[in-house]
Amino acid sequence: MDCCSTEVLEQQFDPRLAAAELRRYRRRGPGRTARLLLLGLRAHLPPQATLLDVGGGIGALHHELLDYGVARACEVEPSAAFLQAAEEEARRRGHVGRVEFIHADIRQAAATVPDADIVTLDRVVCCDPDYEQVLQLSLGKARQLFAYSYPRHWLGVRAVVGLQNTLRRLRRTNFRVFVHPPERMESIIRAYGFSSAFRARTLVWQVGVYTRVAAA
Ligand SMILES: C[S@@+](CC[C@H](N)C(=O)[O-])C[C@H]1O[C@@H](n2cnc3c(N)ncnc32)[C@H](O)[C@@H]1O
Repeated sequence: MDCCSTEVLEQQFDPRLAAAELRRYRRRGPGRTARLLLLGLRAHLPPQATLLDVGGGIGALHHELLDYGVARACEVEPSAAFLQAAEEEARRRGHVGRVEFIHADIRQAAATVPDADIVTLDRVVCCDPDYEQVLQLSLGKARQLFAYSYPRHWLGVRAVVGLQNTLRRLRRTNFRVFVHPPERMESIIRAYGFSSAFRARTLVWQVGVYTRVAAA
């Protein structure tokens, strides 16, 4: 079984973790990367925008953005447990009818998911060794804004992630986390016609928001 198959993601992002994340979100609001992404996105939001949240987990980004004025959202998420938690919260907030939930990996869904004004990937590229494909498929759907977060490439982060992956190997768990080269990710984003509009970081995470460069 490879490290990023749907089966492995279902095992990693299971009902227990989904319930814990939903409880934490209800108590404390969005996590740090989501808060930074929201800060960067709010400064550039087009009116009545549509959102595609790839790997949205329990849906913190779309719950917040729908409250903030985004018109419609779509979440593509391979973990059934996370998707169910996102749906439960959407019902509680009265967002039903404004958000669509698709149980799939972006690789399976890309051909049919409609384009959106905003595309987000919060802490998703680090779940996949083929980050280039995940980025390209997501960027291919983005009309105006693209926002993502990823683990920073410095030695401390790589050492901790390496240790966590060793423990996973010892426990015979197939899930792995990846720290990808930021320069390569930035060059892919530029190649899709986006330029940096907002950057922020924590000790572990880098956050970036990008706007589409106007055609010459
Ligand atoms: C660390 S969680 C982050 C969830 C949420 N974005 C957040 O920041 O709370 C990573 C999420 O990405 C999803 N994911 C991983 N690879 C994916 C892919 N290729 N397509 C769509 N979602 C993916 C996982 O199922 C999981 O929900």
